[in-house]
Amino acid sequence: MPSRLLAIETSCDETSAAILTSVDGERRLDSVVILSQDVHAIFGGVVPELASRAHLRTVGPVVDRALAEAGISLDQVDAFAVTAGPGLVGALLVGVMYAKTLAWSLGRPLLGVHHLEGHLFAPTLEDREFRPPFVGLLVSGGHTMLLDVPAWGDYRLLGETRDDAAGEAFDKVATLLGLGYPGGPLIEKLAPSGRAGRFDFPRPMLRDVERPGPDRYAFSFSGLKTAVLRAVRASDDLERDRADLARGFQDAALEVLVEKTAHATESLGYATAMIGGGVACNRTLAARLRERLAGQARVAVASNRLNTDNAAMIAAAGAWRLARGDRSGPDLEPRADLPFPGLVHSALLSELPA
Ligand code: KG4
Ligand code: ZN
Repeated sequence: MPSRLLAIETSCDETSAAILTSVDGERRLDSVVILSQDVHAIFGGVVPELASRAHLRTVGPVVDRALAEAGISLDQVDAFAVTAGPGLVGALLVGVMYAKTLAWSLGRPLLGVHHLEGHLFAPTLEDREFRPPFVGLLVSGGHTMLLDVPAWGDYRLLGETRDDAAGEAFDKVATLLGLGYPGGPLIEKLAPSGRAGRFDFPRPMLRDVERPGPDRYAFSFSGLKTAVLRAVRASDDLERDRADLARGFQDAALEVLVEKTAHATESLGYATAMIGGGVACNRTLAARLRERLAGQARVAVASNRLNTDNAAMIAAAGAWRLARGDRSGPDLEPRADLPFPGLVHSALLSELPA
């Protein structure tokens, strides 16, 4: 008997639904529908109130479309998963209420899923070989975390950002360069036409990787952003310098991400590293990490549509948790600051060899 899971994701500015079917232990993604809200572009960032309103309008049609593409009706769904946090609470609320209503009216199990655990599971949908143990770099608009993942559900935080998230830095720098929103893809597109080294921006906290301690795998991007701001102000011709600035920023940001991820992978002796979250769409990031770990570890990265926010990754994480018996009750509430399930600060920090 196939078991069908319907997942919903509304944590930020994408309304998404997906159907994941499990047959005899094999999983199959039957559909994933992702509707991006373009209303935020003119504001240069996500406006929470507008995001909630747009989710309200679109969640029903997006779910219906996911069912239609999978060729099933609602009563053939066996369980529901929904992003319960972290994210914009008003946006999360729409998905959680919708999923709760469907689950309770049909009498089927429901599970609230942590958004970042979803990002960690994304590569499993396309890569059968991908499984723990691995080092995971989660880089999105809201988070930058380096995790030791010895097993699913066992997440050891090696380090995270002290200020801006990596994606946030891409977005802010893109705004400084007059490129638009979201900035990550625009910087990635422009950077190859810029000259390497013309702007030699700082690599924040890069040297800390050589010393055991709490800064070893920590990140910081606000100083780098300020350095770009200064260079933009000092430029007498932004048209001429724009691509060089994008190149300089991207090279600096990626070097820190690559070096810390590679160092952790080597130190733990793992054969796999993964990159997840919106910034994992950056193919230069994946290519440089692969180059750095060549002959030592493989780098798992999902395709772009599964790296930015989507319900398929929520289905993948939800299916794993539902199979172990995890369930949410009718009291499931969205939380902007939902704690990462199974996350502990790594005691390995000071024990890892230099
Ligand atoms: O995971 P995500 O879709 O949403 C959050 O949970 O935050 O990540 C969105 C972030 C944005 O900051 C966006 O600029 C960044 O991912 N991003 C990229 C690229 N594509 C998206 N950053 C760098 N290079 C890209 N190609
Ligand atoms: Zn995300």
